[in-house]
Amino acid sequence: MKDKQNETITIDSLGEWKRTHNCGTLRQQHVGQEVILMGWVNRRRDLGNLIFIDLRDREGITQVVFDPQVNATAHERAHVLRNEWVLAVKGTVVPRLEGQENRDLPTGEIEIKAEEVKLLNQTETPPFQVDGAVDASESLRLKYRYLELRRPQIFENFRKRHAIASFIRAYLDERDFIEVETPVLTKSTPEGARDYLVPSRINRGMFYALPQSPQLFKQLLMIAGFDRYYQVVRCFRDEDLRADRQPEFTQVDLEMAFVDEKTVMDIFEGMMGALFSKIMGREIPAPIPHLTYQDAMDRFGTDRPDLRFAMELKNITDIAEQSDFKVFKGVVAAGGMVKAICVKNAAADYSRKALDEISLMATANGAKGLAWIKVAEDKWQSPLAKFFSDEARLSLNGRLDAVPGDLILMVADQPAIANAALGALRLEMARREGLIKEGEYAFVWVTDFPLLEYDEADGRFVAVHHPFTAPVEEDLALLLEHPGKVRGRAYDLVLNGSEIGGGSIRIHNAATQEAVFEALGISSEEARSKFGFLIDALKHGAPPHGGMALGFDRLVAIMTGVSSIREIIAFPKTTSGTCPLTEAPSRVDPGQLKELGLNINL
Ligand code: AMO
Ligand code: AMP
Repeated sequence: MKDKQNETITIDSLGEWKRTHNCGTLRQQHVGQEVILMGWVNRRRDLGNLIFIDLRDREGITQVVFDPQVNATAHERAHVLRNEWVLAVKGTVVPRLEGQENRDLPTGEIEIKAEEVKLLNQTETPPFQVDGAVDASESLRLKYRYLELRRPQIFENFRKRHAIASFIRAYLDERDFIEVETPVLTKSTPEGARDYLVPSRINRGMFYALPQSPQLFKQLLMIAGFDRYYQVVRCFRDEDLRADRQPEFTQVDLEMAFVDEKTVMDIFEGMMGALFSKIMGREIPAPIPHLTYQDAMDRFGTDRPDLRFAMELKNITDIAEQSDFKVFKGVVAAGGMVKAICVKNAAADYSRKALDEISLMATANGAKGLAWIKVAEDKWQSPLAKFFSDEARLSLNGRLDAVPGDLILMVADQPAIANAALGALRLEMARREGLIKEGEYAFVWVTDFPLLEYDEADGRFVAVHHPFTAPVEEDLALLLEHPGKVRGRAYDLVLNGSEIGGGSIRIHNAATQEAVFEALGISSEEARSKFGFLIDALKHGAPPHGGMALGFDRLVAIMTGVSSIREIIAFPKTTSGTCPLTEAPSRVDPGQLKELGLNINL
């Protein structure tokens, strides 16, 4: 091989050399020891006489000095080294000269006086620097993901991911859960997304579906008497991707027989407490608070409230109705509501232009507009001020605990839109006002979900959790007449505004399962063809059972403080579902299609 100056560069073999230490361990106490380190050139400084190499591996960086006085050949070879070349260095640990210590590096008190060097591999010019700030586009970073993963701070996230998984496995092992693998080539399990289909060659024209979750298999394991199951398992969902959604992701999936909601929730609550204590050194206040779905919607506008800050939504319909503001009166007359948040001490920070910008955020979430009030002494500064009597103004201030200097934001609409728009604004305003503190962890259980909700687009009821969730027993009678009024025995675990898990007590009785399918508008033929195996199994001695699945990637993202789960998945997909590294998905050989009996019609 030749370098730029056309010098011949020989690549050495490892030979008998064995690594004695990694690049993060050597300290003052090792001074005088002969060591062999291996790793990548993080940076090279050539001072002519002395050459300094920062050698990097996953554990850290150690400085190596090449001095012609020590070994002229090694020094000569060090001249041609480039970033990311792979080296093995034999040398002696020496203290750094007084004043030359690097306090930012754990190994900063010592350096290696190189006596011999082996060049194990060269590299093409890296598409971006491994060391230093990330300045490459996401698609370039993902194309060379292995280079990005070489960054020690990124590796640390994966070490933590591993530690969290190990901890959870041990926690569940100690509590008599056993890990059981379930099929990946299977039948559709509805979790609200589209399926990924896999064509069968042997059974032409037939398809497997990749599991959206192991839901039905874990229920079958309960029927089989396995009693306590878990699995750290990959799930596949063809849905629109976001920062916290990937087409394949990992769940800590769990199921238990002969239990109620509390037993399942206690397992996860105990696990989270122990996990945060062990990995984060943080004690989570116990017990984790509970909110009903209705309270969560009313007070935070979402079923995954971020409880790190207050700024609750207040219903001001009764006061707004008394005003002369036509928009408010119209919405209330049409059965809608008016809701508001109060942003403390923010009035002075928002110009009209800034408020217009915030209004756009409300309209992006479906609102028709955003009304605002700057609360001042004995008056309001607001386009709406003239529509409110003194009395209405005072009672609105009172409802929101608003004092002079506060900014009130209001949305009038049907409940779903008013909640969605103000719920999103609550988060945005908290971010802008710096109310969300790093390193704070606010867990909350959300319970008492409705079993079903009406899907306007589909014109039918759909399961809020999934169709196997048990209805609250006393609501069963309402199932066919008033499906929207039936409560489900489901629960979600929310952390910092992210839904990190969800589960339920399941239907363990075939007749109830069939009734729920019926309420979902699934005909008995369809139910038989899709879920016949489940209905049959429920008739073969199904115990009462329930469980839950943690969104493992979301949990790890929060625990590592990254903003997208892509950061803590080794080889993630882009938001358009592609993998720039392997270039998946890709076209396939026509022969393969023929064998599968498939024709592509685009
Ligand atoms: P659910 O559909 O709520 O429940 O999924 C459980 C948890 O998985 C996470 N999650 C995701 N994470 C990343 N990317 C995705 N596309 C994605 N989709 C879901 C969420 C969610 O809370 N079988 C049931 C569980 C049960 O009832 O036991 C289920 O899968 O954090
Ligand atoms: P308009 O009378 O339509 O010009 O609206 C006056 C103010 O009320 C503007 O700031 C609008 O953004 C706001 N507004 C309009 N519709 C709504 C609504 N549904 N909810 C809250 N504010 C609204």
